[in-house]
Amino acid sequence: MSFRSRFKTSFSHNDFYRPFLLRQVPPGARRALDVGCGTGRFAHLLATRAGHVDAVDRSAEMISAGSPAPNISFAHADIRDLDLTPGYDFISCIAAIHHVPFGPTVTQLRDALAPGGVLAILGLSRYTLGHLGIDLVAFCPNKIRQLQAALRHPEPRPPAPVMDAQLSLAEIRAQARTLLPGARIRSHLYWRYSLIWVNA
Ligand SMILES: C[S@@+](CC[C@H](N)C(=O)[O-])C[C@H]1O[C@@H](n2cnc3c(N)ncnc32)[C@H](O)[C@@H]1O
Repeated sequence: MSFRSRFKTSFSHNDFYRPFLLRQVPPGARRALDVGCGTGRFAHLLATRAGHVDAVDRSAEMISAGSPAPNISFAHADIRDLDLTPGYDFISCIAAIHHVPFGPTVTQLRDALAPGGVLAILGLSRYTLGHLGIDLVAFCPNKIRQLQAALRHPEPRPPAPVMDAQLSLAEIRAQARTLLPGARIRSHLYWRYSLIWVNA
């Protein structure tokens, strides 16, 4: 891969927020679910913090590029078709919620949580004027991180299915107010928001 392509693709805005997401896993978590797991890289990290991880993705290509682990069950499925067995202590959904209808999917994931369980979404919202400020502030740090990542010679990753986000952050906040009261929603630097909800 040329340096130019490495520069363009090596810094993953999603991966950057993985430590933040891992900090949301409740201590002693037994069952976790990663929705839209891609090749399962986050599921592997999650498997160090939870007894068992279910990892679901509707792309056969993504799932088949993942490597197995004794406490991860990979499923090639559309999350909307799954009848989830409730009782998850942690459910993550990284850069995937905008691929599915927000309201019905967060309801499905919310209802699958155990008492005290945590739903952690890292998402993309529709580009609005509000993003202009982020574009300005994030430009330089993003370039520096792209350079650092490109210099590290990362292994190439299969390109993930992508889709434009339909909902603005304001629309996401409005739906979350009803469906996930008390959810903490934050806008992050690298064009992502997080939504953390605890089934208190
Ligand atoms: C941008 S990728 C993110 C992959 C992974 N979470 C990561 O951070 O590397 C979005 C993933 O969501 C998956 N996806 C989209 N719609 C889905 C659905 N309805 N059910 C399960 N997975 C879905 C896609 O196949 C894709 O792998």
